[in-house]
Formats: sequence, structure tokens, C-alpha cells
Amino acid sequence: MVDDKILAAAQEERFTRIKHDESFPTNAVQYCLKEANCKLDEIDHVVFYEKPFLKFDRLLETYLSFAPSGFGSFVRAMPQWLKQKLHLPREIKKGLPGEWKKPLVFTKHHESHAASAFFPSPFEEAAILTMDGVGEWDAATVGVGNGNQMKLIKFLIDTTITWLTLPLFYFLVFTPFALLLRAIGKADMKHPNKNLPSYWKNTDQPTSPKQYLRQF
Ligand SMILES: [Fe+2]
Repeated sequence: MVDDKILAAAQEERFTRIKHDESFPTNAVQYCLKEANCKLDEIDHVVFYEKPFLKFDRLLETYLSFAPSGFGSFVRAMPQWLKQKLHLPREIKKGLPGEWKKPLVFTKHHESHAASAFFPSPFEEAAILTMDGVGEWDAATVGVGNGNQMKLIKFLIDTTITWLTLPLFYFLVFTPFALLLRAIGKADMKHPNKNLPSYWKNTDQPTSPKQYLRQF
């Protein structure tokens, strides 16, 4: 961004064709720098979309509250947290194409969602509502945006309610929707061939009815 103008924006999955690609967005960074016609040392701020320590705090507390259930998920998640996610400044600096000496900025998860909705919008003033599975601790927030300022002022529901409503939403909305997409021959966007013109691919005919019970 330069002032209030977006010069370039991209998601890594568009280059690697791996849906929700979690790897460092090397391709997206390179594309944005090229598109904006600038070098890394001309950039003032690099921003990450959530606060890793706050999220880790929430994860630990959730695992502790529900222990011993969730132990498998805990064991699977911890190595990546300990090796990478708690060392994000190091990981980001390692992944950028050049030396980064300026500070890195970490916004809260819901602030990122709110900013991505309000700042590119055509409204000078707006009320903002964010609802997301979970970020750090908040699950739904209300805020106000004015010009180039934005503030989240109320945190509506916390993770307990989210975790109660999420499974319901998942099975009552996402599952039927996914089944519908499969029924009309569409599948997720993971694409082995980068040269194909479309992300959509035809689904193979299921051989077992059990396939319909899987989400993805
Ligand atoms: Fe989110």
C-alpha cells in the first residue's frame, strides 16, 4: 500500500495452487514487490495478521480446560508452534527477499479482518462487525471505522460459545453445502496441474457411499 492506495495484493495459494497454503508466502511477496515496482528496503511496514503469543495462550488454556480429550491434537500442533509459530519474527525475516531491520507489526486477528473489510470499502464512516471461528480470544467484535482510523470497541462472544456453535454450523451448513458441490461435480481448489485454466476440477465418481461423509 502507498497511502490509501493498494498497489498489489495476493495470496500464496494462487501461486502454489494448494488451498489454504500455510507455507511462507514467498511467491506472493515477490509478486507484490514486482507489481508495485519496489524493493524490500523501500517498504516501511511488514504486518502479520494475528498475535502469535496471545493465540498460543488461548490454545494452551483451551487444551488444559478440555484435557485429557484433545491430547492427540495437542501433540500434533505443538511441534509446529514450538519450531515456527512462536518464532514468527525470525521466520518472517528469514523468508523475506532481503534483510529486514525495521520492526514487524502484529495486529489482532479480528483487527485484521475488520481492516480488510473497512479500509478498501467505499465508506468514509462505518460500523464494523467481525465474526470468525476464533483468532486469539475473541470470536465476534463490533467496531467503528472513520477515514483512516478504525477501532474495535466491543467483544461480543468468547471462545466457549464459538466452540458450541461452530460444530452445529459445520454440520448443518458446511456439510450440506460441500455435498451439494460434490453432487454437481465440483470439488475443492487443490490443483495438481498449474497449467490448467481453472481452479475447479471434476470430481471422480464416488465408489463408496462413505465418501459422502467426508468433508474434504
Ligand atoms: Fe480469521
